[in-house]
Amino acid sequence: MKIEFYVNGVPQAIEISAVNMPLLWVIRDTLDLKGTKFGCGKGTCGACTVHVNGKAVRSCLYTAKFAEGKKITTIEGLGNEENPHPVQQAWVDEIVPQCGYCQPGFMMTTAALLEKIPNPTDEDIDTHISNVCRCATYYRMRKAIHRAAEIKNSAPNQINVENDA
Ligand code: FES
Ligand code: FES
Repeated sequence: MKIEFYVNGVPQAIEISAVNMPLLWVIRDTLDLKGTKFGCGKGTCGACTVHVNGKAVRSCLYTAKFAEGKKITTIEGLGNEENPHPVQQAWVDEIVPQCGYCQPGFMMTTAALLEKIPNPTDEDIDTHISNVCRCATYYRMRKAIHRAAEIKNSAPNQINVENDA
């Protein structure tokens, strides 16, 4: 079965061997985009979070065939070194990661949250961000989410790769 979609703005036509193959497998194994992580495989930890048409999706549970015609953004497409997404910049500013494994998922979830709620309160963060970090970087992450909102709101027209897709 062949599916056609966009990943980080690039059109892709991928042959998938099983109808129920998760999008995560396609992203990591077929497209070799290793920033998106496998954690629980059950939709719980959020390590596999990507954007599908701008919405945060846990790609371990998202069947690849449903991505047909859609715009997928992974952490590699959120921004880059020259033009980091406000969330990426805030993560650097607040020195959030420890081992780093969970961080792409957190950043993708946060980026989607800021599109919905530009100035999230602590309560909004608790309600909308349910990802898991085994290194317990939650305190720094919370600071970084507020910092990302500040950066984004001070440059609301910033263009990133996702918007170009
Ligand atoms: S690997 Fe997808 S939610 Fe944990
Ligand atoms: S930084 Fe290690 S799991 Fe989150």
